[in-house]
Amino acid sequence: MEILQGRDLSEKVVIITGANSGIGFETAKSLALHGACVILACRNMSRANEAVQRILGEWHKAKVEAMTLDLASLHSVQHFAEAFKSKNVPLHVLICNAAVFAAPWSLTEDDLEATFQVNHLGHFYLVQLLEDTLRRSSPARVVMVSSESHRFSEIKDSSGKLDFSLLSPSKKEFWAMVAYNRSKLCNILFSNELNRHLSPYGVTSNAVHPGNMIYSSIHRNWWVYTLLFTLARPFTKSMAHPIQ
Ligand SMILES: NC(=O)c1ccc[n+]([C@@H]2O[C@H](COP(=O)([O-])OP(=O)(O)OC[C@H]3O[C@@H](n4cnc5c(N)ncnc54)[C@H](OP(=O)(O)O)[C@@H]3O)[C@@H](O)[C@H]2O)c1
Repeated sequence: MEILQGRDLSEKVVIITGANSGIGFETAKSLALHGACVILACRNMSRANEAVQRILGEWHKAKVEAMTLDLASLHSVQHFAEAFKSKNVPLHVLICNAAVFAAPWSLTEDDLEATFQVNHLGHFYLVQLLEDTLRRSSPARVVMVSSESHRFSEIKDSSGKLDFSLLSPSKKEFWAMVAYNRSKLCNILFSNELNRHLSPYGVTSNAVHPGNMIYSSIHRNWWVYTLLFTLARPFTKSMAHPIQ
């Protein structure tokens, strides 16, 4: 809210993935309260509609809408992109925010490891599908919400080649924190390449680190993380704290 103070975003159309809670919700609310038309792209429609109502409760004229997007399903991503395009509106800002953290090993319906697909591949596919709309709406921007923890990971194998096991590692090889860190590294590599590819057309891409151990719902997959986030809470940023 502080960063956007005095800005009129009433001409802007924004999509935010995973906007029903946490940092995504705060971002959606701030943009909507400054006039932007904001689409909350969420996997759970009842949580998404609740989030829409919370924003409308703050300003009844806010232009907010929930649409279904499950990043763990390539079919859902495609369906979302088609539904959005059928609205025939521009797209000025696409914020790829949704993520899972410390999620146990599981494969999606596409037979890919879930953390990798939700955090990186689903967003990668979404951007590909919306690229023409972004280009037509330029100046436009993509924001990848990544994490500092990308620094503690590697996506090459010992021979220096891309380690394809990250797509679908066996349960035995899987370590949730490593999968998260790797997905966040993919976010940054993708954002950098996207920026190289699209900035000549007036579409920029940036990756951001929102802050460390912000008390959202992200810790929910393991009680140990919930405890750590609770202990750190007095010393860390709130969800509404600006990204700098
Ligand atoms: N919190 C931190 O300390 C921190 C630090 C560094 C980076 N980040 C990054 O900040 C971003 C936001 O995280 P947060 O802290 O706000 O966490 P959060 O409150 O858990 O929000 C994550 C959002 O992603 C959604 N999501 C999960 N799986 C999905 C799927 N398959 N399809 C669509 N949406 C899905 C969740 O929806 P449901 O409610 O339906 O699960 C939720 O709305 C993430 O990219 C995270 O990596 C956070």
